[in-house]
Amino acid sequence: SSTVFRTDEGSLSFGGVDVRKLAAEHGTPAYLFDEDDFRSRCRAFKTAFEGAEVYYAGKAFCAKAVIRIVAEEGLSLDTCSGGELAVALAAGMPPERIALHGNNKSVAELTRAVEAGVGRIVVDSFTEIERLTAIARQRGVRPKVMIRVTVGVEAHTHEYISTAHEDQKFGFSLSGGAARQAVDQILADDVLELRGLHSHIGSQIFDTSGFEVSARRLLGFQSEIFEGYGRQLPELDLGGGYGIAYTSQDDPLPPADLARNLRKIVEHECAGYGLAVPHLSVEPGRALIGSAMCTLYEVGTTKDVDGIRTYVSVDGGMSDNIRPALYDAAYSATLASRSSQSPAMLARVVGKHCESGDIVVKDEFLPSDIGPGDLLAVPGTGAYCRSMASNYNHAVRPPVVAVRDGASRVIVRRETEEDLLRLDVG
Ligand code: LLP
Repeated sequence: SSTVFRTDEGSLSFGGVDVRKLAAEHGTPAYLFDEDDFRSRCRAFKTAFEGAEVYYAGKAFCAKAVIRIVAEEGLSLDTCSGGELAVALAAGMPPERIALHGNNKSVAELTRAVEAGVGRIVVDSFTEIERLTAIARQRGVRPKVMIRVTVGVEAHTHEYISTAHEDQKFGFSLSGGAARQAVDQILADDVLELRGLHSHIGSQIFDTSGFEVSARRLLGFQSEIFEGYGRQLPELDLGGGYGIAYTSQDDPLPPADLARNLRKIVEHECAGYGLAVPHLSVEPGRALIGSAMCTLYEVGTTKDVDGIRTYVSVDGGMSDNIRPALYDAAYSATLASRSSQSPAMLARVVGKHCESGDIVVKDEFLPSDIGPGDLLAVPGTGAYCRSMASNYNHAVRPPVVAVRDGASRVIVRRETEEDLLRLDVG
């Protein structure tokens, strides 16, 4: 990220603070959050998508301090559960700038969202339309909804994070006719205010062609709705999913190019169908927070497997970053506490958990003199690491330390064994 550099002593400086000092003060493992970097990514998206709505997808990482920044920078917020909604409201996020997603929202979650006055509810099933209609009738309110449409795009990413092909759980199928039926039902009841269509095709995607196909199909459907009902839906949400660079192999598109490509398609299609251009929105999570954080670990043991590689064990692992085990995700690691002149060796950075799939970085070249007490930094851990962290092996989840202008503060504290034992009431 922008504010990371090597000090004259060879250690890494993160947000203006030497990582050795951060480790001494906050312990390891710890997630370090570069506030300025996050703000600058929020601004880059906001500027690129000027006139459109940028929702930060809170599932990537949701904490009050982060949500406050999102609010300050003028972004909106996508939540996908009652829990995230609670954090957003506690952080003071204006409810009208919050959207609620999810394929199986409970009646309690929907009720809470309606009572809080959230700006958009993205409906995902007929059951949900019925539930929400009943809640709205009962309270005499008119919630604004978007319809989650399954556009049938095969996104080029890991199967578990692709979401717009037909055979998965999200959304109303476009080709199968369910999307059309959802529109019919919402317009017939006329209790919910239909604002537009929504699609999210998947995550960690570099190629804009999937988003373009999705936009084309949604606008084709909009024009059908226009013909059928004489109604132009005022909004269009193209979801998130923009990839970031985890290693030097990844080549993400700058937000400005992304925005330009999407706008061009939308304007072109609208012109073709004779539709007014809808108010666009996007929902980046990873692209905003992913590169704004790194994880700082301390090295413990090492093990040479002759002629193949050296295993370098750190004091965390799959409990603070499940992504390598779950998606075969690639990361990089760098010796952070000092520089070294020793020759590089092929290393595998592993955690301290009780399974061999507990890998942090599968292949990395590290100095051969690396050993106990050294600090390792793994960049790009802002998205889906703390938010997917677990207590596996009764690990306590690491803190999130915000760093800015040479000062650090804890925004999510480290769990303690007492925290874990407090839940164990048997
Ligand atoms: N909007 C919707 C409706 C979504 O479902 C998601 C992510 C996003 C936006 C934000 O996607 P992003 O821009 O962050 O890629 N745990 C997985 C990612 C799951 C994403 C789920 N939905 C991972 O670690 O890669």
